[in-house]
Amino acid sequence: MTEAQDKKNRILPRHVAVVMDGNGRWANKRHLPRAMGHKAGVNSTRKIVENCVKEKIAALTIFAFSSENWARPKAEVSALMSLFVSTITSEVKKLSKNNVRVQFIGDRKRFSEKLQSKINAAEESTKNNTGLHLYIAANYGGRWDVVNACRLLINDAQHDGRTAEDIDEALFDSYMSLSESPAPDLFIRTGGEQRISNFLIWQLAYSELYFVDVLWPDFSDKDFDEALSWYSGKQRRFGKTGQQVLEEQST
Ligand code: IPE
Ligand code: IPE
Ligand code: MG
Repeated sequence: MTEAQDKKNRILPRHVAVVMDGNGRWANKRHLPRAMGHKAGVNSTRKIVENCVKEKIAALTIFAFSSENWARPKAEVSALMSLFVSTITSEVKKLSKNNVRVQFIGDRKRFSEKLQSKINAAEESTKNNTGLHLYIAANYGGRWDVVNACRLLINDAQHDGRTAEDIDEALFDSYMSLSESPAPDLFIRTGGEQRISNFLIWQLAYSELYFVDVLWPDFSDKDFDEALSWYSGKQRRFGKTGQQVLEEQST
């Protein structure tokens, strides 16, 4: 088979989740301030969004700022906040033109009024788009997500009369972030570390995990393409045997 045919026959993920790591090291290597690494990272983010649109992938979740990242030096946190404001402002129109629906996950209450209003406006202006569902994880933590779901569920239970016995995985999941989309099929982390860093701890239960040394600002179209091909070669068994999966595929 030719490379083009191979590509056409690939099985693509419906949902990709990405830890965009390595901006600081990218800047350090160039003797630049870390903030320049974050700025350079925005180009890679734009590219992966465009590639997901092109490949008609249903959902993309990107980790922009973790609940732990507040512990960074003040100047870096404030550079990141300014970058979020300017990036949302400059990108939203084009995203909307590409039929992308933008949604933020995480506790937005800790952000400035200005950033919160940019976030709300971006969500509002893209809410009827039917293409790529882009989730931006900002002040997000997987543990926060679980605790938040518990809080929401208990609040509802006080009104709808549900008891502990009524709670199952599907109901719990409906209170978690990303519940409108299938769980991520493919998780990508750049920057060489092989850890989850409190990203989607519930939703990644059965994702294929792909770690790559490339630093996020260097992550290219080709790097994404390689991740998609790697994913396509995986047999997803969900607890079954390989033989069972093959038999199911042939019927
Ligand atoms: C990821 O890059 C971006 C954010 C956490 C906002 P880093 O800033 O963590 O880059 P490294 O890991 O220091 O290279
Ligand atoms: C995870 O990267 C968070 C984001 C990419 C936004 P970190 O660089 O903060 O992760 P750790 O702290 O090294 O695990
Ligand atoms: Mg890092």
